[in-house]
Amino acid sequence: MGFSDPQSLSGKRILLVVGGGVAAYKALELVRRLRERGAGVRAVLTAAAARFVTPLSFASLSGERVYEDLFSLTDEQEMGHIRLSREADLVVVAPATAHLLARMAQGLADDLATTLLLATDKRTLLAPAMNLRMWLHPATQRNVATLRGDGALFVGPDEGEMACGEFGPGRMAEPLAIIAAIEAALRENTLLPLPFAAQGPLAGRHLAGRHVLVTSGPTREPIDPARYLSNRSSGKQGHAIAAAAARAGARVTLVSGPVEIADPPGVATRHVETAQQMLAAVEAALPADIFIGAAAVADWRVEPSADKIKKGASRAPPTLVLRENPDILASIAQRREGRPALVVGFAAETRDVLAHAQEKLARKGCDLIVANDVGAAAGVFGADSNEVHLVSRAGVQSWPRLDKSEVAARLLAYLFEKLAAGQTRRDGDAVMETP
Ligand code: C5P
Repeated sequence: MGFSDPQSLSGKRILLVVGGGVAAYKALELVRRLRERGAGVRAVLTAAAARFVTPLSFASLSGERVYEDLFSLTDEQEMGHIRLSREADLVVVAPATAHLLARMAQGLADDLATTLLLATDKRTLLAPAMNLRMWLHPATQRNVATLRGDGALFVGPDEGEMACGEFGPGRMAEPLAIIAAIEAALRENTLLPLPFAAQGPLAGRHLAGRHVLVTSGPTREPIDPARYLSNRSSGKQGHAIAAAAARAGARVTLVSGPVEIADPPGVATRHVETAQQMLAAVEAALPADIFIGAAAVADWRVEPSADKIKKGASRAPPTLVLRENPDILASIAQRREGRPALVVGFAAETRDVLAHAQEKLARKGCDLIVANDVGAAAGVFGADSNEVHLVSRAGVQSWPRLDKSEVAARLLAYLFEKLAAGQTRRDGDAVMETP
């Protein structure tokens, strides 16, 4: 289970929120294990937690002050609650009781623990612990789904015998399992970006009246009735862009290759398999104000065999003759009539990301390339976050690693500004001016 590195959490700061449940005693063991691995731990106890375990035990084991009271003047003078919530690398709630989960799901802030949980800018890992009926209650399950949707991480609960004598799911995960979940969470960037919609003047339905056309996912090029050529694109980024455009008020058409994710709400989604079908569906959906080619279109196709190609001892392995697929992005960008005002491509590269993006911008004739590193080390394919560079004729703008939905919202706000700027100038060309 990978507990081998004794200093695996060296220098990491954990804010541990302890809820009021019988499992609170296991949180003491968690503090010990965290300290053993080099982590600093600051514990915050709810009033109920302090009835199960004493603040003194946490203070002794963590070697730090324990915080309990939002209204304690000393607490606020020494360490404001906002600072307390921001200084951690990760917030861990163990045990997360049903009541605490409910308060978090509602966004209540009626004590120090819930105030910190609302004010933090870091991810939160929750280790629920409660009676099995409380855990299985639809209200708790609803709260868990809400919290997951908000980006909270969960570890456990385990199944087993409960303190109350019943048997089932609800036992808090064991401290070492919580440690493993903490290590996994800390391998990712735990800083939560502010939801873009909350920032600045572009919040709201700024794309109302526009048609945004998006491609997403891989294409699948048949070799014979059973086999195909394809790639690892998950469609998450393209689908997130379509969803964000719909939220921004646009009419959205999404042309999607075969993906394992749901059609975004409020988006007209056309499902295709091959690059040729994708091009036809894109052309049929024109005119559009913005075209965003986020699909990983297969560069080549095979002339498919009508029957399944057979393997035989006497037969040599077949040779696949590849033919070039149409370049959808280039053909939309280079249209003489009905070219969308903004044509945006993606460049997934494994090296020299910016140089390739610049070359692609020129060769394809689009207005913007959103470039990212998809090398194995970047871990972008199938992931929920992405680190992109916006390459236009005016230069490069690099964004930090963000959730794909955040990349989508920011990209659309950026394009909206360009669209608005292009329209006020009314000179038709060079819509993209500044990155
Ligand atoms: O040339 P490359 O495949 O790297 O370019 C990537 C960009 O071009 C993406 O935006 C992708 O959607 C688009 N593309 C396309 N048709 C192709 C190949 C790529 O639209 N046949």
